[in-house]
Amino acid sequence: MQDFIAILSARLVGAFERLGFDPKWARAQPADRPDLADFQCNGAMPAAKSVGEVPRAVAERIVADLAEDPDLAEANCAGPGFINLRLSDAALTRRAEQIAADSRAGASYVAVPRRIIIDYGGPNVAKPMHVGHLRATIIGDAAKRLFRFRGDEVWGDAHFGDWGFQMGLLIAALAEERPDLPFFDPALRDEYPVESPITLEDLERLYPLAAARAKEDSASRDKARRATAELQNGHPGYRALWAQMAAVSRTAQKREFGALGVEFDFWYGESDADPYIPEMIEDLAHKGLLVEDQGARIIRVVRAEDKRELPPLLVVSSEGSAMYGTTDLATIVQRSRTIDPDLVLYFVDARQSDHFEQVFRASDLAGYLQRDQLEHIGFGTMNGPDGKPFKTRAGGVMKLHDLISQAVDKAQARLDEAGIGEDFSPAERADIAHKVAIAAIKFADLQAVRTTNYVFDLDQFMSFEGRTGPYLLYAAVRIRSMLRKLRESGNESGPIILSDPRERALVLRLDAFDAALRSAYDKRMPHFLCEHAFTLAQAFSAFYANCPILEAPADLRASRARLAEVTLRQLLLTLDLLGIEAPERM
Ligand code: ARG
Repeated sequence: MQDFIAILSARLVGAFERLGFDPKWARAQPADRPDLADFQCNGAMPAAKSVGEVPRAVAERIVADLAEDPDLAEANCAGPGFINLRLSDAALTRRAEQIAADSRAGASYVAVPRRIIIDYGGPNVAKPMHVGHLRATIIGDAAKRLFRFRGDEVWGDAHFGDWGFQMGLLIAALAEERPDLPFFDPALRDEYPVESPITLEDLERLYPLAAARAKEDSASRDKARRATAELQNGHPGYRALWAQMAAVSRTAQKREFGALGVEFDFWYGESDADPYIPEMIEDLAHKGLLVEDQGARIIRVVRAEDKRELPPLLVVSSEGSAMYGTTDLATIVQRSRTIDPDLVLYFVDARQSDHFEQVFRASDLAGYLQRDQLEHIGFGTMNGPDGKPFKTRAGGVMKLHDLISQAVDKAQARLDEAGIGEDFSPAERADIAHKVAIAAIKFADLQAVRTTNYVFDLDQFMSFEGRTGPYLLYAAVRIRSMLRKLRESGNESGPIILSDPRERALVLRLDAFDAALRSAYDKRMPHFLCEHAFTLAQAFSAFYANCPILEAPADLRASRARLAEVTLRQLLLTLDLLGIEAPERM
């Protein structure tokens, strides 16, 4: 099934070739001026230039070649040599029926499916999840859905931060605060408590204190470093304590991801790469990649063409512990042995780009996964009104949990103001408020161009007007309830008839779905899907405002019902790819 860009581009290729021009310029694109055309081709100008002809004359010859095309109601030249194309109603109707009959609403599959691991979310054990992990989670999850929908085989991995310095920090801090805990008893080798004596509150209280102290005081920093190394080298008490801390945090984090509607295929952590580390280090040494450097072991990853010097990858610290980059490199080994992916995508804050470049180059040098199989998909930060990364009113880092409850409260207030769901049960109202809140947060995050920062403004995200999640939920629910009423009054959908410009415009939006999917996929930019959802909802609302349905003659009523059905299907599919779920009614 081809969309109009593909169909018209193929026609243009034929015309360019018949006239002796390079077909590389024969490309249709959506018209800049929808009042003048549906699609346009700008290729006559470069084609003319390449052979020294007058662009307008070349455009006219191409237009003449297209004159007999039954899919085109009009082809003409404009300005210096633009080619404007207007589709015939027959072509539009045919395409509309095709999309309506398709459970995927016109979406194509990738030509060659790949095996892809998506590394996203990345919370740290023992640290509460904060808004910094929000974008990683939301964007990564949308990418996972999109890649899977387009036909790739995809695994999502949370890659918990559970093996680094923060574990040593906590162990050292606990050893000081509660030296009586059995984990610190050197006489004990097993028989540690099964029930964790450490709560999430303990961890959340201790971590910031310990981190702040280590920053100022080198003695406690050294203690934490030693504890990290001892943990990694198998200290039985530390291992037992570590397992409990990891389990306590993981439970809390699963709950938080659950509230966002995010699930992973693998809940692995950095520690799961640990078994691969000794062999990997031996292998790296054997390949001559490990260099001694002031007691540490590093891999140099600079390249001659680099514009600035990329620091080396630290593999073993001078205390003998594995670092962030070590576990990431060993995770590549683990992934290539267990999954053998064609591609691994890392959805992580753009500020970690050097880290990933180091790891990817090391992987390439060592012959694990190649550089072009590894991609860091960075993104900007969510900022406060002051333009700096978002903080709570008290100046602290906003916990994800608090952010979600704030959004739910606001959603409930908005629904109450608008009198939505007054006669629903409290459980249904709560469910709707939750869905509206999540839609607001996710849509705001996803519609911002991935690489840019955006400002957190819950009031704006929660508005039922404009480019927002709540607006789109409302649009979907409205179509759903309209269709329900139609069905209840015995109306079925039927063949599509185009009788109004708003119907044409709606069909062109439906046709544009696949291009939005492909752009979002190729560029790893979910905002193309947000834009599609929004313009589709708008095209539908213009159609609905101008094309009566219930009062229309029977054939138009049936046609419009079908247009509404397919719009709803495509809108819900798009929202689902963004990780947004619409309530049945609201
Ligand atoms: N835990 C890390 C952090 O909070 C993010 C992990 C990203 N994934 C990875 N493979 N390094 O900064």
